[in-house]
Amino acid sequence: MEFLRHLLVFLHLLGMGMLVAMFFVQRRAGADAPLNKGWLHGSGLQLITGVALVALSPVTHKEYDHVKIAVKLAVLVAIAVLAVLYLNKKRIPSWLAPAMGGLVVVNVGVAVFWA
Ligand code: HEM
Repeated sequence: MEFLRHLLVFLHLLGMGMLVAMFFVQRRAGADAPLNKGWLHGSGLQLITGVALVALSPVTHKEYDHVKIAVKLAVLVAIAVLAVLYLNKKRIPSWLAPAMGGLVVVNVGVAVFWA
């Protein structure tokens, strides 16, 4: 079971890396580019792996702070909602990528600094 938890954490960290990368991919694409679908895929991966980690806690014997998890979930939902809202738009507002990237960084901070 420890292997399963490690595998999920591994994918969770790759998902985080993907979301950070999306910020730079979006910048590279320029101001006229539509929203990259990677934002949706990365947040989907974070949601699935994060929820699976919490759901498996009885078998992995890991205890998680549920308030911390709720905050991470709320931040992730905000990212995913923004991704869904702007996915089919031809252009995206200039604040969108910094805001989504900032929310990703907020969740990394919550993950690491919330004891
Ligand atoms: C943008 C979204 C997210 C980012 C960037 C993120 C980032 C991280 C990072 C960096 C860690 C490793 C922290 C450490 O080991 O000290 C972590 C762990 C964890 N995350 Fe997330 N996370 C996100 C969303 C979520 C969501 C939505 C959930 C649950 C619903 C979640 C649940 C967890 C759990 C349970 C762990 C601990 C894994 C363990 O060590 O057993 N995360 N997250």
